[in-house]
Parts: sequence; structure tokens; C-alpha cells
Amino acid sequence: MNDMNPSVDDLTLEQKASLTSGGDAWHLQGIEDKGVGGYMITDGPHGLRKTAGETGALDLNHTVPATCFPPAAGLSSSWNPELIRAVGEAMAEECIQEKVGVILGPAVNIKRNPLGGRCFEYWSEDPYLAGHEAVGIVEGVQSKGVGTSLKHFAVNNQETDRLRISANVSQRALREIYLPAFEYIVKTAQPWTMMCAYNRINGVHSAQNRWLLTDVLRGEWGYRGIVMSDWGADHDRVASLNAGLNLEMPPSYTDDEIVEGVKNGTVSRRQLDDMAQGMIDLSAKARAAMSIDGYRYDADAHHDIARRAADESIVLLKNDDGILPLRRDAHVAVIGEFARTPRYQGGGSSHITPTRTTSFLQALETERLDAQFAPGFTLDDEPQDRRLTDEAVDAARSNDVVLLFMGLPEEAESEGFDRTSLDLPAKQLAVLDAVCAANSHVVVVLSNGSVVSVAPWRDRVSGILESWLLGQAGGSALVDVIFGAVSPSGKLAQSIPMRMQDDPSAMNWPGEEGHVDYGEGVFVGYRYYDTFERDVAYPFGYGLSYATFALSDVAIEATGPVTASVRATITNTSEIAAAQTVELYVAPLQADVARPRHELKGFVKVRLEPGESRHVHFDLDERAFAYWSQLFGDWHVQRGRYRIEVGTSSRDIVADDVVELEGDAKRMPLDAWSTYGQWRKDPVGGRIVERMKAEGEAGRLPRIPENNVGVELFLDSMPINSLTVILGKGGRAATQYLLDEYAAAVSAR
Ligand code: GLC
Repeated sequence: MNDMNPSVDDLTLEQKASLTSGGDAWHLQGIEDKGVGGYMITDGPHGLRKTAGETGALDLNHTVPATCFPPAAGLSSSWNPELIRAVGEAMAEECIQEKVGVILGPAVNIKRNPLGGRCFEYWSEDPYLAGHEAVGIVEGVQSKGVGTSLKHFAVNNQETDRLRISANVSQRALREIYLPAFEYIVKTAQPWTMMCAYNRINGVHSAQNRWLLTDVLRGEWGYRGIVMSDWGADHDRVASLNAGLNLEMPPSYTDDEIVEGVKNGTVSRRQLDDMAQGMIDLSAKARAAMSIDGYRYDADAHHDIARRAADESIVLLKNDDGILPLRRDAHVAVIGEFARTPRYQGGGSSHITPTRTTSFLQALETERLDAQFAPGFTLDDEPQDRRLTDEAVDAARSNDVVLLFMGLPEEAESEGFDRTSLDLPAKQLAVLDAVCAANSHVVVVLSNGSVVSVAPWRDRVSGILESWLLGQAGGSALVDVIFGAVSPSGKLAQSIPMRMQDDPSAMNWPGEEGHVDYGEGVFVGYRYYDTFERDVAYPFGYGLSYATFALSDVAIEATGPVTASVRATITNTSEIAAAQTVELYVAPLQADVARPRHELKGFVKVRLEPGESRHVHFDLDERAFAYWSQLFGDWHVQRGRYRIEVGTSSRDIVADDVVELEGDAKRMPLDAWSTYGQWRKDPVGGRIVERMKAEGEAGRLPRIPENNVGVELFLDSMPINSLTVILGKGGRAATQYLLDEYAAAVSAR
């Protein structure tokens, strides 16, 4: 293949059309003599899943070994973009060795409901966190000359009926919740590719959604890469290409429809050229890395990165009486099959073959730590074997402390279906009951891709580690944390509700008859729980440490009409080296629309030696204060007061202060439908209202009743085209006076 960068003008119509669909299920279409490489593209997103077969068939099972990093459910608990970037760089090195030009990930769809089958693969219920973490994957991978695919664009938040269902969502919820992670990453890191989602958005399939793929993605956000379909998401080649889809995956062998479309005018030549040129550019970007031969990545080094990522993905939820870390000489019972057979990744297209795995028991052995193991239960659906319970109880009785490994077996959650309950398997809960009756020092270690109910049993145990899914090095990471080599630093990226029914999306989940209404609007996760003061088992952003920290010298100030800055000092007040995350939330104190009580708008994780202090600084831009106004069809920072909160979880706010912002001075033009109150409060309209009152006093217009609270309240909410209701016959003249004076004022500007 030559190194020239071909232009679309060098291609025939048929060649251009061929570029807009894959060469096979896992390759781009190449045009050898034109220098367009048919490079491999394949999953992600938490490790390379490259089919071992040569046919390019849709084989999800036989894949080449690759490092299995913690899936997003774990990695997102790290709140550490630099670590996440290191994971991206390592994955890229494995792509170079395996000649994969684009790794399909990260997946930044919002965890709208914890029952979602792919919550394990998604980052957070909060778009700011999802975007500011997953950007590390894109930057890390692409820094090595390999591409990523930011997916699934957009509003793909459930597995139920995912290829057909219409997510009916307001423009405001779209802009404030479901798009910002994509927007931030596109504007910050320009992922080489995007993958459009299976579902419809307000009735239009993502693949055919020109508003989404062209107007917003390219027109508003300045995206310069290509958009591919999710596998099987392109149902109309012509409509999709016209909407801005560059690439149909896998190929449906219907390129003739594109050729015919150009000939009959349903596809513009310009549109095809743009889509095909994007594919040529993608190939050119990948060429250098794909031309590297003989490269071998360092599997040991990548395993160490996986271990470090797993260390920081573990969230300490409960640690009564400092039961953790355990002493190395503690007499420990390890109960639960997950300690021997780790659940370390999710199911479906992201399922990979790890280069190695380390179970907790293996890691104990490596660290020469003794423990008595009892499987406690099997991971299948078979009824509990009483002998396993008895064995577990014996182990619990014979030791000082119990590490009880519980979680969701592989079959319980995956791409392709949603869960119907948050509960742990009944037989595991039965073993928990028996073990807690036999030993009062129990620490539960959870392995799960999405939230499980903890409220029913958490008071029975002394400690809880939410370890999510930790990838291939999870066993070693758990030993690191449980025995104190590492202080846990994970923070929840997803609220843990008391009950499934408490979730704000529960009444609209998973939809019916082909549609799902996002009735909760922007009130997703903690935005709902904190606004409506609902109890949660553990809040967004929560996670304990073995160390203690102090936040001080918090200084918050406005730096402009729509910006502010925050400074603080964080100190490690313990004897243990550890990391802590400072979280920053913005709470609007008044708004013309219903806004969440507060929203995450900044975070930084710092690692501190005992006694060490670090100054942290946040610059809050306009978007930290803005809401999406459906009236303006744009972001709007309303004039007023905003409380800025600094803390270590959404419900552990250590300091706050209020800033007064002028706002962005956006104003809707006044018209006959604007209320009297809007006219009165408007800088221009208000002066005209005063002149109208003077005209009324002079008898040239009807008098506006003054000092009559009832009338004023009634007037304020009344569009001025209805003034006759209050002012009688002269009302129409008053309305016309206002409109004429306003028109004159506007034209005089
Ligand atoms: C799947 C997934 C997508 C994946 C693709 C290729 O259906 O939705 O995330 O990248 O197909 O496996």
C-alpha cells in the first residue's frame, strides 16, 4: 500500500459507495490500489476483543488474549483521569500488536437506571464525571496512533428492545444529561470515530438522525471524525448516509443502493463524497500505527496497570470500628465462590480473553497470607446445597473475621438484557444470614457490574467493599486493599438506592409498546435523590478511606458574569499515605426552570503522604452554571445567586459559599404573548410600562390599578394581549402602545 493520502476525487462512484460499509464484520473496506487500508476495528471497551478467527465472522467467543482492565463500572470509581489515560495507552499498544486500527469504546451512555444490562460498561449517572473520566481512554488510545469509537450515540440506556425502542426525551434532558459526556469528549479529544446507537430518539433511529449526526455533532460541536453504526443499527442506507452516517457495520452488501441513490438524486454526490472522504481520512490516520511490524507489548507491565486501576476502583462503603485493613496474621475465613472464581468483566460484545487472571485465593497465596476458604454457594441457579452452608458456618466459627464474597454471577447481567431486580441471589443472602449468626466480624466484598441492594443486610455486617468488576488483576487488588498495602480511594459513580422502586426512572422503565418516556427529565440519580431529599443507601461520590483528611482555606469567588473560581487546601491528617477526591457541586439558588438541587461541576484526586497538604484550584466556566433553555434553544446562565459546594461526596459537603452572577444577559424579545410581568422586569420593556402608566395617569390610556396586590399578581401572569380583562375597552390600546414603543426602541438600537 502506498503512503499517498488519496482524495475522494480519485475514486469511482462504486468505490466511494464501497467505503461507506465495512469490508466484513470487523474490517473497514480497503481500496488497496488507492492507498485506503481495510484496517480492523473491534471491541473494547475495557480491553481488546479481537476474534481469533480469520473469517471476520461475528464470533464473540474465540478471541486473542488481551489485558482485561476493569470495566467502566470499576474504573469510573477511580475518579482518576490520568490513570484512565494510562489504561487507554496500554490498550492502544495491544491494538498495535494485533493490528487493530480502532478499538470500539469508550461507552459513555448514562446509567439512567441501575437495572440497565450494560451499566457495567457505562461510566456514571452523571455526565460530567462520565465525560471527564472517559476522555482519558480516548486521549490515551489516540496518543499512540490508534482510533477509538465513542459510543453509543445517543440515549442508549437500556437493553430492552434496544434495536427498535424510541427514547422519548426532552431537549433539556438530552442537552443536560444524555449528550454532555459525548459533547465534552468530542470537543476535548476528537475521537476518530463515533458509534451511533441502536435506538430511536423521539421516533427517529440514531443512524438516520440528521439532527444528531450532522446538526449537533458536526454543526454545533465541530466533530471532524466519522460515524459508524452499531452492528445492525443501519436500517436504511440512503437515509443514514444522508443523515451523516459514514459507515454501516457490519456490511449488508447493499452499496448498490448508494450508487443508485446518487444516480436517482436521493443521495447528493457531495454527501457521498463527504462520507467517503471521512473514511479515507480515518484510514490515513491509522496507517502509521498499522504499519508497525513485529511490535510486542509488555504483558506484565499492562497487568500492573490493570492492578493499579483495580486498586483505585474499589469503594469502601462501610468500615465499622476500622475492621479493615486486616492484620497479616489475622485468622480469616474467606467465604464465597467469587474468591476462587472471580467475576471480573461483563457479558456480551465486551467480553475478552484475559492474558491471565488472579483470583483472591491465588493472590493470598502469592502474598503468603493464610485463610480458610469455603465456597459457600455455587454460581449457578441450582438450589443451595446445605452442606456448603454448613461448611461456611464452620469456617466462620473457626476464625476471627470473615471475608464474605458476594455478587452477581455472569448470567445475572449482560449486554442484551436488563435486570428485573437489584437483589443479590437468594442463596447468597441465606449464606450471609448463617455466617453473620456465626461471626459478628463480617466484611462483605461485592463483585457486580451494576448496583445491588445493600440496605436489607448492611446493618448485619461490619464492613462492605463495593469492588464492582475489577478486570484480570482484581484478586491482587483486593488483597492490596483488604490487607492495607493500598488505602481504598474509590468513589461511587452511581448512587446506591435503598430500593429499586426509589429510582426516579422506575415508573418509566423499561418502557412499553416501542417507546420509553424519560419522564424524570434531568432528575437522574443523585439529581433526583438530593433534590427530593430521598434516602439512599450510599450517595453518589461516596467512598471511605483508611486515612483521614481535612479541607481548609476554601475560597470561592465570581470571576466574571458567568464564571467563578474555587480554591481549597486538602491535608492528609492521618499516618497513612492515601488519595482523596475533592468534589465540587454547583447549586442554583433560584431558576426560571426546575433545576436539580446541585450538580457535579469539578473534581480532583490527590495522593497525599501523612501530614501532606495540597492546594487545589477549580475554574468554573459558563457551563458550570448554565441550564438548557428550551425557550432560547440554547444554554442560559440566569442572573442570580449560586451556592458552590466543596466536599468528598454529594452528601458530604465540607464548605460552601454563594456567588452572585450577572448571568449571560440573554433575554427573549418581548411580544404580545409576553406577560405583563416579563414586560415589567425587562430593562427595555420596564421603561415602556412606566411610560404607559404615565399615559394612564394623564388620561390618554387606561389607568393601571396601583397598590392592588391581587390585580398586580393577576396582571403579572397575564400576556399583554389579554389586558382588556383587567383594563376593559382601553386594554387593546394599552397593548398596542407597548408593542409600538418596543418596536421603536428595538429599531433604534
Ligand atoms: C454490539 C454493541 C457495541 C459493539 C458492537 C460490535 O452490539 O452494542 O457496543 O461495539 O456491537 O461488537
